[in-house]
Amino acid sequence: MEVLKAANARERAGDSVLHLEAGQPGTGAPRRVREAAARLVMSENLGYTDALGIPELRAAIAGHYARWYGVELAPERVVVTTGSSAAFVLAFLALFDRGARVGIAAPGYPAYRNILSALDMAEHAIPVNDSTRYQPAPKHLDRIAGPLDGLLVANPANPTGSMLTAAELQDLAAACAARGTALIVDEIYHGICFEFPAPTILALRDDAIAVNSFSKYFGMTGWRLGWMVVPDPLVATVERLAQNLFISPPAISQYAALAAFESYDELDANVARYAQNRQLLLEALPQLGMGHFAPPDGAFYVYVDVGGLTNDSRAFCRRMLQETGVATTPGVDFDPAWGHRFMRLSFAGATEDIAEAMDRLRAWLPA
Ligand SMILES: Cc1ncc(COP(=O)(O)O)c(C=O)c1O
Repeated sequence: MEVLKAANARERAGDSVLHLEAGQPGTGAPRRVREAAARLVMSENLGYTDALGIPELRAAIAGHYARWYGVELAPERVVVTTGSSAAFVLAFLALFDRGARVGIAAPGYPAYRNILSALDMAEHAIPVNDSTRYQPAPKHLDRIAGPLDGLLVANPANPTGSMLTAAELQDLAAACAARGTALIVDEIYHGICFEFPAPTILALRDDAIAVNSFSKYFGMTGWRLGWMVVPDPLVATVERLAQNLFISPPAISQYAALAAFESYDELDANVARYAQNRQLLLEALPQLGMGHFAPPDGAFYVYVDVGGLTNDSRAFCRRMLQETGVATTPGVDFDPAWGHRFMRLSFAGATEDIAEAMDRLRAWLPA
């Protein structure tokens, strides 16, 4: 957020800024969703909805699992939420009590640990690196003293983009089940995968929670709409929590989102652009002395080891922004222990911007 603020200030002062710090698609919602929203504003009341979401959307989300993964899902297990952010609050409160210990990969998405600490729960950081392709593995659980109450895995992950295969996810889920550790899988970057399709935990087990969102593949960040799929016995608890905490997810977003499931062609064209941007980075970064990064299997990030260039990635990113106008995110946001060696580049933006950013860095970095 600090980088974003500095980048925006530069832009207001008239400088050209290339936004490789943005964690969101530049394209916005699909055309059909926008058209539906425009119609809805004039024709519907848009009052509160059922706390778990409108039945049509819950059914459409279940249909999405049949289409993408061949998984038959009861719509009653689908909980529509105010972004995946609200899903985490609901999942943590439904599963855990105060003081719970929840394992999370470091590097990882910072809001996980901040939401946990706001709820008086504790993150147990699991340092991950090349040896397990930046994802938690059963061996990490073996090393932790005492069982964890929960494990939260992002597949693909932010900031690394690295992914677990179906077999790895299966092993991890089995290790959790053997320890009585609840498993939550953040599948928010599904649909944006470059090496192999992301497996959903729902195809493997029915005792885990899958969290997802309209924010990334569907390009609808500001519409604040997400969902989770919970085991049957949790539905009633989640419903009571959702009624009291949020009343309902945004009505207009829910009705308009039905059209997202008619927009796969448009959305897949965005993914094709990400693939092109990613290729551009994978070719350019090694030439800039930034050839060591986590496996960018999915999402729209490359998590680059800049340890050869700096020992303080926060200062490095700040200076890069000041001197080149290229905005990136320092790794300390994602990993307080090792992030000073890392920087996250997002390739969610326009291909010309990524290419231009690489040109500016080529001219800026020592040859
Ligand atoms: C891994 C991950 N999970 C969850 C979120 C939250 O997204 P939203 O609340 O928009 O669904 C983000 C946002 O960047 C993310 O990167």
